[in-house]
Amino acid sequence: MDKPPIWFKLAEEAVSEGKSVFLLGAPDTGKTTLCKFLLEKAIEKGLKVGYIDADVGQSTIGPPTTMGLSILEKREDLEGLIPFKLYFLGATSPAQWLLRSVVGLKKLMDKALERRVDFTLIDTTGLVTGEVGFQLKFYEIEITDPTHLVAIERGGELEPILKAFVGRSKPKQYVILPSEKVRRRDLTQRQHYRQQKLSLYFKNSEILNFEKGLLKNFKGDQSFPLDGRIVGLLDEEGFALGIGVITGIKEREIEVLTPIKAQEAVKALWLGEVKLEGGAQNVCNPGRGLSR
Ligand SMILES: Nc1ncnc2c1ncn2[C@@H]1O[C@H](COP(=O)(O)OP(=O)(O)O)[C@@H](O)[C@H]1O
Ligand SMILES: [Mg+2]
Repeated sequence: MDKPPIWFKLAEEAVSEGKSVFLLGAPDTGKTTLCKFLLEKAIEKGLKVGYIDADVGQSTIGPPTTMGLSILEKREDLEGLIPFKLYFLGATSPAQWLLRSVVGLKKLMDKALERRVDFTLIDTTGLVTGEVGFQLKFYEIEITDPTHLVAIERGGELEPILKAFVGRSKPKQYVILPSEKVRRRDLTQRQHYRQQKLSLYFKNSEILNFEKGLLKNFKGDQSFPLDGRIVGLLDEEGFALGIGVITGIKEREIEVLTPIKAQEAVKALWLGEVKLEGGAQNVCNPGRGLSR
């Protein structure tokens, strides 16, 4: 793996002086790779680290459609990236769910701080361009208030976002080029990644029956068939215990296929925007994965 000298400087400065680093960059600029490097360095320094994965499409923590927080203290923790908390977005892109994305990120950040982490790394989606990208990133940075901002930029695409923070005492900005070793992935490769994550996630799933009243955001719109739709199984704090797929609707109950076993901890169901291609029977072989 290519580890440019600037990475070491970043690790030295941001990890030693800072409290949090926000990774900003278009898709395939190496955000997640650099994030994992910084994570490793922070752990080597003996820090308790919060790693927030706000990418709902190419998730590293938890299944696609969720944002995740993992808390790491030792090298081995890097291997599994066990979710400490998940927030359900219900889509594989934040574009139409800006408010939910920013609120979810804030809730995860608060949890990390509540657990008294020494350092937080915030890895985000590559949606950075246009008005939507600007709104999402500006408010993600605004609300997480990082001490350091690492912008991986190809050619001026992050300028509007970076400019909006000029004059602020925080975050300290680093603008770096993507590594030459970065491999760009096309749509098919991204879908394949999601499919693999989903089939792994849904291994050992069973059907649970939930009272219909638990479904909080369904407005009875029949143009949106429920069968095959992804749902978030939410706990008493509004975090997701996990996700499920709707397999059937009965008079009073909803059938959900899910690997979550602690049914009594599920206090609400939140309907996602996406459904599993080909329905729930494809849960372990999810075709093209998720679609709208
Ligand atoms: N410094 C690097 N050296 C080698 N490969 C890299 C490096 N940075 C990124 N890659 C590869 O490029 C691809 C995209 O990188 P990733 O970190 O997932 O980007 P992003 O999170 O910005 O979408 C991955 O396959 C990753 O392994
Ligand atoms: Mg990434």
